[in-house]
Amino acid sequence: MSDKPAVLVTRKLPAAVEARLKRDYAPRFNDDDHVFGSDELVERAAGAFAILPCHSEHFTAEVTGRLPDSVKAICNFSVGVDHVDLAAAKDRGIIVTNTPDVLSDATAEVAMLLMLGAARRASEGDRLVRSGGWKLWSPAFMVGTQITGKRFGVVGMGRVGQVTARRAHGFGMEVHYHNRRRLPPESEAGAAFHERLEELLPLCDVLSLHCPATPETTGLLNAERIALLPDGAIVVNTARGALIDDDALIAALESGKLAAAGLDVFNGEPDIDPRYREVENAFLLPHIGSATRETRDAMGFRALDNLDAIVAGREPGDRVA
Ligand code: DGY
Repeated sequence: MSDKPAVLVTRKLPAAVEARLKRDYAPRFNDDDHVFGSDELVERAAGAFAILPCHSEHFTAEVTGRLPDSVKAICNFSVGVDHVDLAAAKDRGIIVTNTPDVLSDATAEVAMLLMLGAARRASEGDRLVRSGGWKLWSPAFMVGTQITGKRFGVVGMGRVGQVTARRAHGFGMEVHYHNRRRLPPESEAGAAFHERLEELLPLCDVLSLHCPATPETTGLLNAERIALLPDGAIVVNTARGALIDDDALIAALESGKLAAAGLDVFNGEPDIDPRYREVENAFLLPHIGSATRETRDAMGFRALDNLDAIVAGREPGDRVA
């Protein structure tokens, strides 16, 4: 039996991350990369010092309460921690960490992809070309929304929000934001602060969501708030599906109140509201905001830096509980 700490690794991780795990720990891998149900999660954690999960595993209060006493740390391979009941983990004396910073560039890139894909009708165009349905070109054909010179609104000016705002600025957009607190000028980088979300919304030709999913932000983009957006606005979501009231967003896309939406995250994903599949003006991606080789490695190493610190009795850099 190994004298290295046992670590339950819930999903398939990049080769370099698994190699470091093998070097420094006694990892228990999930070779076929299936998603553990709560019973399997608890059973596999028996005797493990730490769990290295993704947002696909749900540590509800009930599951956290059943974790074996051996588990001292949950070192997430994710920046989002809405899949972990932090209060329950704290009650059990389990340290929880996340992986901020390292996925900001990759996620901001996908926010730009979603904005452009939605504005320029990329899904429709792709379907037309693939299906052989593209029969003509005319000045009236596939006309979309130009984003240069338009107003870009960020909700949640954390790390990802700030990088995304800078990218939007690079597209010649005027950037506005709403955040719990105003940022110092060097972090604002010219973006205009709005203390109330309701003040920001009427200014957003493009609205991009970047706040965490919490009880306070669940359903944040509802029918009342969508009504405050300019007609023909575009909604982008790379944060969490929970921020959106799907009934309200789908109705606004169908009625033409919104020109389009670009969505990488969904309520109940991957079992998304099936109506999204039929909405022509939605550009949809399967939660790939951080899915680049560079970022996946960096997320794994960041999670392991946190774990190393905990094992060494030091405070981890990214402790959230
Ligand atoms: C994150 O890190 O939160 C991403 O959404 C992937 O889990």
